[in-house]
Amino acid sequence: MSPIPAIKDLPHLDDPLEDSKRIAAYRAVDENLDVEVHKIIGIGSGSTVIYVAERLGQYLQDERFSQFVSKFICIPTGFQSRNLILENGLQLGCIEQHPVIDIAFDGADEVDVNLQLIKGGGACLFQEKLVSTSSKVFIVVADYRKKSSQYLGSNWKKGVPVEVVPSAYVRVCHDLKNLLGAKQVVVRQGGSAKAGPVVTDNNNFILDADFGEIQDPKMLHENIKSLVGVVETGLFIDNAEKAYFGNADGSVEVV
Ligand code: 5RP
Repeated sequence: MSPIPAIKDLPHLDDPLEDSKRIAAYRAVDENLDVEVHKIIGIGSGSTVIYVAERLGQYLQDERFSQFVSKFICIPTGFQSRNLILENGLQLGCIEQHPVIDIAFDGADEVDVNLQLIKGGGACLFQEKLVSTSSKVFIVVADYRKKSSQYLGSNWKKGVPVEVVPSAYVRVCHDLKNLLGAKQVVVRQGGSAKAGPVVTDNNNFILDADFGEIQDPKMLHENIKSLVGVVETGLFIDNAEKAYFGNADGSVEVV
């Protein structure tokens, strides 16, 4: 057993960007987790959420909190997050058994002033949306680069991730361009030229659809969802309660 390291005493990491991710995640956990109330915890995907799981692991090692945190059930959003839960000694659960989640933490690719998000850079957007919309409280953790300078699409230039049924991907590419005005749509590819399309945990493909700057993310989300073959979009609308943006100097902006 050892007490949770105080944020002010943390040694710097090798990379200032990692410092900014860690400070956002640690502050988000410290300020939003209520160990006596929260029992089912959603754990998202990506490189910032690593520090959320790490912080929960530290709570588990602290005798003041251990009796509560050892009973937490953590719901993952994919393979990486499942491993994060296990590696930090936390209990893994599944959303089929726990469809109501008390609090979820996840990263984002871009966040606007209204807390609308682009997510899915890691191709886990369906489970991420399932977990975040099943959560009573959804907290975003991100480094300073993720805060949108204005409209969604101004920082994240790779396009809106869209999960599609494989047999419909050509039709959806066509509709995204011809019906909804996407400038470009690419089928996300695996690591190497030979790998072929990325296949999600649900055996679907991911399209990245470039709409430039998005003035009405809610309408765009609804329009994309209405296309035959679309499973889910990476536009997360009216769901996040707060976003923590970490800066390399150790400060955090909470929106
Ligand atoms: C994965 C996601 C991630 O949360 C998003 O890509 C942010 O990742 P990171 O914390 O590495 O910047 O949506 O599908």
